[in-house]
Amino acid sequence: MDIKGYLAGLISVAIDNEKYDKDTVCGLVATPPDEKMGDFAFPCFALAKEFRKAPPLIAGDIKAAIEGSDEDKGLIEKIDVAGGYLNFYMNRKAIIAGVVSEIIEKGDDFGKSDEGNGKKVIVEFSSPNIAKPFHIGHLVSTAVGSSVERIYKFLGYDTVKVNHLGDWGTQFGKLISAYKRWGNEAAILADPINELLKIYVRFHNEAEKQPELEDEARAYFKKLEDGDEEVTKLWKFFVTASLTEFNRMYDKLDISFDSYAGESFYSDKMPEIVDILKEKNILEESEGAMVVRFDEEAKIPPCIILKSDGSTIYATRDIAAAVYRKRHYDFYKNIYVVGTPQALHFKQVFSVIDKMGFDWSDSCVHVGFGYVRFPDRVISTRHGDVVLLEDVINEAIDKTKEIIQNSATGKVVDDVDNVSEKIGIGAVLYAFLKNGRERDIIFTWEDMLDFEGESGPYVQYSYARGKSVLRKASEAGIDWKDADLTLLDSDEEFALVKHLNNFQNVVRDAANKYEPCVVTRYVTDLAQLFNKYYNTCNIMKSDDDIRKARLLLTEAAASCIKSALHLIGVAVVEKM
Ligand code: ARG
Repeated sequence: MDIKGYLAGLISVAIDNEKYDKDTVCGLVATPPDEKMGDFAFPCFALAKEFRKAPPLIAGDIKAAIEGSDEDKGLIEKIDVAGGYLNFYMNRKAIIAGVVSEIIEKGDDFGKSDEGNGKKVIVEFSSPNIAKPFHIGHLVSTAVGSSVERIYKFLGYDTVKVNHLGDWGTQFGKLISAYKRWGNEAAILADPINELLKIYVRFHNEAEKQPELEDEARAYFKKLEDGDEEVTKLWKFFVTASLTEFNRMYDKLDISFDSYAGESFYSDKMPEIVDILKEKNILEESEGAMVVRFDEEAKIPPCIILKSDGSTIYATRDIAAAVYRKRHYDFYKNIYVVGTPQALHFKQVFSVIDKMGFDWSDSCVHVGFGYVRFPDRVISTRHGDVVLLEDVINEAIDKTKEIIQNSATGKVVDDVDNVSEKIGIGAVLYAFLKNGRERDIIFTWEDMLDFEGESGPYVQYSYARGKSVLRKASEAGIDWKDADLTLLDSDEEFALVKHLNNFQNVVRDAANKYEPCVVTRYVTDLAQLFNKYYNTCNIMKSDDDIRKARLLLTEAAASCIKSALHLIGVAVVEKM
């Protein structure tokens, strides 16, 4: 229900001035800090000059005009003039009835919009490196990126999920050389990343003693670039083996991609980029390398395009990737979810694209995020300082299982393993998406698995609580579908409904800011408001008709919690 829009329409007609159309008025309608001052407020100060009248008088005129018109469909209970403000008190019953029936009717579609229809949004996220550990930073990228994608899709955008795999570069020459010396196919198939990492590290150690190994590696990478059959076959083996391992994790997280076009995909698309840069006269020589320089004011260091040996680098591949994506997808937005330490890299890449004369450079967005810090350092890692995704996920699941098994309600859970997995993973994702993404993430098991604090399990528990009341009511033979919602008007019920009604605006705000935390905060508040309602309103003990109405409101709240959790990648469980 667009209550604000509805009010703005009435106010705009009452003001009757072309400067104050509905949208302008809507931007001025505010929510008072205290509910005693009404549900919405409209300040009249800005109008004083225009109408040469004191704001309270203007407020009085608007009030009279709205009350005198037959436009009002009974949604307004009372309008007060307070100083230069108009305070609107809404008709609680009408709003509760309108919002709740809308949610029940729309179900999973509640909050969705078609505003993005026909617009393609690429969300690139996760992007781990082949033959290297999938570390915690990749997990944050995966969590943030997947959420941003779900948010855009919810608003109707045509989204494309891209995993820009790190599957190219001179390190593959080293890996091939290492494999030819010490590789063991069976061992790699059994434990791909660890085995590949092991021989890669060994290569580095050996190369310190025998520098000629580096030449061998360079020669192998050259062969790979030239498409040599044997070397390409080996490289493909590394890619498939690594992907098998990554996919196991993606499956657990319920994440999939539309494209795995990584860096290698662009290896044959770079000569054209170099040609365009030369043609536009923006490629300069610098100490043997070819670079693009930027204006002094921009304060961006030159972007290297070709190294002194003529080979391309990470940035060149990103420029080729952006140009390819524009041609292939004709995107409306091209979003990169990559850690903030790469902010300068993306600034350079987007600036080169701009210098190439592509006016779509500003549709490319780098969505950065901070580091993960582990103050309690209790995560066991197999690789010293590198915290692995799988270790974190598995530990979260184990700890959740322990909590559930020791809890009072633990016995009602039918499938402890499945439930622990959903809650454990949910707890990790929630912890990553709880605060603004540019802030560092402080990761402690205590906060993350605090079933009563601001945590994934707390929100999941609120959902399960709602579902459990509905289950009990069902078992008692109650049918609440035709409930009379106008019986509800308590503070707790109204506060919950007003919050439910904000869902779409919140999702839109999250999309504009590329900030999943906006949704996380929303769903946490929603769970809190639901619990307050649950604790005050004695759903099952109410009189028949009121009980039915409260069950319907419970169903609506649970449905919205589920939708919002889905947007941050967190699954729900029916019992916990
Ligand atoms: N593979 C890179 C890494 O692990 C991240 C890739 C980011 N995406 C990009 N288009 N450069 O650091």
